[in-house]
Amino acid sequence: MSDKLKKILDSMSVEEKIDLCEGKDYWRTRAYPRYDIPSVMMSDGPHGLRKQPEGSDNLGINKSVPAVCFPTAAATACSWDAELLSEIGRAIGEEARANGVSLVLGPGLNIKRNPLCGRNFEYFSEDPYLSGKLAAAYVNGQKKAGVGSCLKHYLANSQEYKRFSSNSVLDERTLHEIYLTGFEIAVKESSPAAVMSSYNIVNGEHVGDSEKLLNILRRDWGWKGMVVTDWGAMNSRVKGFKAGCDLMMPGGSHYGKSAVKAALKKGELKEEDIDDCAQRVLNFVENASDASQRPCEMEAHHELARIAAEQSAVLLKNEGALPLRGKACLIGHMAKELRYQGVGSSHINPYKLSNPVDFMELPFAEGCTAEGYTNDKLIAEAVALAKSVRTPVVFAGLTDIFESEGFDREHMKMPEGHARMIEAVAEANPNTVVVLMAGAPVEAPWIDKVNALLYMALPGEAGGEAINRLLTGKANPCGRLAETWPLSYDDVVTKDFYGKDDAEYREGIFVGYRYYDSAHVPVRFPFGCGLSYTSFEYSELSCDGKSVSVTVKNTGEFYGGEVVQLYVLPPEGGIFRPARELKGFEKVFLMPDEEKRVTIPVNDRSFAVWHEGKWLVPRGEYTLQVGGLEVKFTPDDTVALNTPEELKGTWYETLQSTPSAEEWHRLLGFDFESRPKAQGEFDMDSSLEEIVPYSWAARRLYKAIELVMGASQGGRDYSNPAFKMMMSCAVESSVRNLAICGGVPEGLLKMLIKSANKKRK
Ligand code: BGC
Repeated sequence: MSDKLKKILDSMSVEEKIDLCEGKDYWRTRAYPRYDIPSVMMSDGPHGLRKQPEGSDNLGINKSVPAVCFPTAAATACSWDAELLSEIGRAIGEEARANGVSLVLGPGLNIKRNPLCGRNFEYFSEDPYLSGKLAAAYVNGQKKAGVGSCLKHYLANSQEYKRFSSNSVLDERTLHEIYLTGFEIAVKESSPAAVMSSYNIVNGEHVGDSEKLLNILRRDWGWKGMVVTDWGAMNSRVKGFKAGCDLMMPGGSHYGKSAVKAALKKGELKEEDIDDCAQRVLNFVENASDASQRPCEMEAHHELARIAAEQSAVLLKNEGALPLRGKACLIGHMAKELRYQGVGSSHINPYKLSNPVDFMELPFAEGCTAEGYTNDKLIAEAVALAKSVRTPVVFAGLTDIFESEGFDREHMKMPEGHARMIEAVAEANPNTVVVLMAGAPVEAPWIDKVNALLYMALPGEAGGEAINRLLTGKANPCGRLAETWPLSYDDVVTKDFYGKDDAEYREGIFVGYRYYDSAHVPVRFPFGCGLSYTSFEYSELSCDGKSVSVTVKNTGEFYGGEVVQLYVLPPEGGIFRPARELKGFEKVFLMPDEEKRVTIPVNDRSFAVWHEGKWLVPRGEYTLQVGGLEVKFTPDDTVALNTPEELKGTWYETLQSTPSAEEWHRLLGFDFESRPKAQGEFDMDSSLEEIVPYSWAARRLYKAIELVMGASQGGRDYSNPAFKMMMSCAVESSVRNLAICGGVPEGLLKMLIKSANKKRK
């Protein structure tokens, strides 16, 4: 701490320090002119700036300043391009700086453990290594613009249903190998200004209350930044101070302040704990406050968004229809109104929008409605047009009501109208190309009937330009999937226990491809796959123990990008492990006939497992796999490690069917049964929805919220994604959130809880 900050801290009263650790309002920290402490502004991220000059909310409802909307993380992850992520981070940082914003709330690097998570579009991958590397690049890029980033949502926050109160229950090995690793890479390689503590509970403890989880960031990883709560995530301000949960956001509610004062009085909380948090807030403000406003090049950022969309696109199938030749047409409402971003706190007010119909002067048929429905007339028009051209290009995917912050998808299917439109067009013309906009995998039963499939994820505001260039061959698709596409939801390992009141991480380390590969479950499209208009050849794979090298050559006729992926396969026998794990990657761009030697570093962690509190390298010969080639390597400093006795022969070794509760309890080392709170047990974690049956006053509040939200959205319409999200965030969230974000007095909510708990005779 600088002498200046030390002096300030020494002069501040306890009350001032407590207040400093709560925001001033929705987006700013508190200013103390008499100590020369300015107020500092933060805004969402992650794929663009959402600065709200007025009408603040954390759900993306009120207007924000125009900003370039980059492709969402579900798209940019498919670029596998750290340099690109760094450029995006820098550009968003520049826009932040131009708008006087010092901290961007992103990137989001929660692990995709189930394709139905409503917020997967905002996250990178099912793989922690890829997530961590891309997040680190983004943060380092943002730093170049002089702006801080905030990694979110720490930790194990992989479902939207009951996101404010669900308990993520998981074993230590899974916690470290899958859920902490991405954050660890990003924290160690980019030292972000802030980390956001998530809403959910982890193994019975709120993240912001958890000394264990916050110590991992600071004591184990040596990080010095500020922990900021997600908006409304503070549980106990007293425990939060003790654990080092520094800044409560948003501010203004004084939630928990009286409890803090009482705890100080009773000696249950020490002033030094508050000092530690206050000091980190002061540090943050000191580093941030020189964020003088500088103009930035919006046109150049839009161009970068276009490049990012191109380099993130994944060509999943192509039997020759692409690049387009001869007469083509565009079909589907999304060609006119591209779905380019998701609903919720990441919602950007785009600087400039490009839709495919604006860039491709081709005949067009609606094919379906904006909501994803179709009818005989729309289908007949689409079919007639499809028959008249060589290549019909159908635009389809998920509409906003299907995926959003605040709720999870109910199934993995596409809107019925989109599926019907694809089938009908493909039947009329088998040369059909599908361009898909969705933040997560969908079931694609029509895949064999179409000629080509280009996956754009949610490609940001320049998506239309990018699609035009990709379809016509001006750009060559070079994205690779960052998430496995199962054949159907039935194949998803978490299907029986995902999306419940509590999040049971029964699959352990077998997340995404770690499961499909190990259990030999066939998939629609594997993790890491993607085609190109050119071809690549790999040769001369070698490993010297410190790195792996391989030669990659462009053997086709197009300039193109290839993602060199390094997988490590464990030795035979020993402790149960996934069949292979990603441990390195690099993207290269090559002219036809050009070749490059690519070197990817490896270290002990590339081979290690988390075992009884530390990283250990199990003994044996490992296989390193790159682009279909393999090389063997036997590391030094290893230990003989077997599957623990109690897990021998369980699902974790056999991967047959699904893990039973009993097997999972053995993995956990304790029993866990999810049980809804009964009357008498309601607390500030309970939702309004839960207490409504027991409290007349809660019912009144529910109705009032519905009315107010409805009025802001032109009616109580649950088919309106924004209204549905607002309601689910208000009534399914913990009542604590209504106090911190919703302006409902904490005392009133405590009374509601008390009355709901009271059994009437
Ligand atoms: C979201 C965060 C977001 C915050 C502020 C929360 O509801 O979970 O990701 O940064 O709101 O908008």
